Amino acid sequence: MRTSSDTVAALRARLERAEREAAAHQRQLERYAADLRESYRRERARAQQLRRSYKATVRALSNAVEARDAYTGKHAERVAAYGLAVARAAGIDVADEPQMEFGFLLHDIGKVGVPDAILFKPAELSEDEFECIAGHAEIGSKILRHVDFLEEATLIVRHHHERWDGTGYPDGLQGEQIPLAARVFAIADTLDALTTDRPYRKAVGFAAARKEIQRGSGTQFDPTVIAAYDTIGDDTFVRLSEGVRSSGGR
Ligand SMILES: [Fe+2]
Repeated sequence: MRTSSDTVAALRARLERAEREAAAHQRQLERYAADLRESYRRERARAQQLRRSYKATVRALSNAVEARDAYTGKHAERVAAYGLAVARAAGIDVADEPQMEFGFLLHDIGKVGVPDAILFKPAELSEDEFECIAGHAEIGSKILRHVDFLEEATLIVRHHHERWDGTGYPDGLQGEQIPLAARVFAIADTLDALTTDRPYRKAVGFAAARKEIQRGSGTQFDPTVIAAYDTIGDDTFVRLSEGVRSSGGR
């Protein structure tokens, strides 16, 4: 026959067992939580490493293209910096669009397919020679077409010479048919071309370049992106250009 002290002892034993089980569950849950935190940390470190590798690969490719042309040294880096500033002013969340910078850096990669004699010709180009140079946009997009992580960047490479009025190349896209990042890029590209010395003409200052670019609003350039560009002071572009120069280039 069970006495009341037996019952108390049995209840206590059950309670203790339940407490031990609860403590064991809690420890298990804590281990799961720690495992999850560790996998998340490792996953994030891997993603960051992957992003860094992408960026380093893109820069290596971009430097390989630039190494060929002593004149435009660091053009891609400057244009990328200008382009990102204009993109931000145009309301694009640049942090959400890592491919945009890749597209800016690689825009002229197709020039590897253009012979030196034409690419560096200091005199005026014949129609055929111009056609050959113009081919770099399409060649560039073909070079990159199978690189998954550059899918959107390839659109910038292909369309960076399209014009708002539809008279650009390679596809003669018009207005908003041209990807927004390519419309942004077109302004940055022209800004750098005008403000650096080239074999066929001397550089002008950022204020003079702005006037020249504004003249192309509605013909060469998207007027809305021009308006965004106009919210950025010339001093910002000067600072960006000096930043690129001091980062180790010519
Ligand atoms: Fe180009």
